[in-house]
Amino acid sequence: MYQIKTICVCGAGTMGTGIAQLSAMKGISTIQFDISAEMLEKSRKGIEANLNTLVNKDRITPLEKEEIISRIKFSSQINDCVADLVIEAIIEKKEAKQNLFNQLALINHPKTILASNTSSISITEIAKTVTSPSRVIGMHFFNPAPIMKLVEIVRTENTEEEIIQTLVTLSEKMGKIPVVCNDSPGFIVNRVARSYYLEAMRLVEAGLATIETVDIAMESAGFKMGPFRLMDLIGMDINFGVSQIVWKALGEPDRLRPSLLQEQKVKQNELGRKTGKGFYTYP
Ligand SMILES: NC(=O)c1ccc[n+]([C@@H]2O[C@H](COP(=O)([O-])OP(=O)(O)OC[C@H]3O[C@@H](n4cnc5c(N)ncnc54)[C@H](O)[C@@H]3O)[C@@H](O)[C@H]2O)c1
Repeated sequence: MYQIKTICVCGAGTMGTGIAQLSAMKGISTIQFDISAEMLEKSRKGIEANLNTLVNKDRITPLEKEEIISRIKFSSQINDCVADLVIEAIIEKKEAKQNLFNQLALINHPKTILASNTSSISITEIAKTVTSPSRVIGMHFFNPAPIMKLVEIVRTENTEEEIIQTLVTLSEKMGKIPVVCNDSPGFIVNRVARSYYLEAMRLVEAGLATIETVDIAMESAGFKMGPFRLMDLIGMDINFGVSQIVWKALGEPDRLRPSLLQEQKVKQNELGRKTGKGFYTYP
């Protein structure tokens, strides 16, 4: 089994921030890397605010809060990204992820595990251009990463068995429920959940129900979040991107055709909570 003492989280956006917080809370020395200094600052403030909430709820002490924060090194220097495990959570673009892994391969030990948190890009495709593709794997957290239990561990045909087991054990140590699956479009959750979003938007587009009605109905039926509230949480650009990739990868079936309503939201930069407006508005 590989020893994971240091984790480098690349990307300090919604997911990277949550994963870095989780990693530091579990006592792991953590590097939070982003090309944007502004995002790094936002991430640090976000983690601090989350930890303050935990202090106020008596879930951690003020001293523990300080220890957790001190375990995270925030950096915009790629040379700082030396770790036992890299988890990338940067923009959802295959070439960007390949480039990043290639740069990291140059400065890291050949046994450093390169994990992607992608929601929809093929792990096999990402691994193709990387030196030692057998160490490339998917480690797909859900939003918000410190809270959501599921982690999809996505293996390609080449992923080393020992790496799969290492990430299963690590996820359990982080208090998560790991599920190992093969690399296929949308993995498990994003494949099954596509219809949840798409059918909801079709109902609204056809004038058969309002956004609020659909959310109330689904939440009252037992779903934790209605589809529109959930899309606002995920981010419209991310969710629309996943829909496009899954639709194309499965041969463009009509049942999975991305929604024009959502495309319009992306064009208007109404991306959900992160921009203050999506299907709903946020203060
Ligand atoms: N948002 C979700 O609910 C969700 C859930 C699971 C997985 N994901 C996946 O996680 C990844 C990140 O999603 P997000 O919602 O956190 O995105 P985001 O837009 O909130 O953050 C992306 C961050 O990556 C940074 N970045 C871009 N290029 C970079 C590079 N080359 N090196 C370092 N940093 C770079 C950006 O500055 C930004 O801070 C995507 O692959 C997405 O598919 C998202």
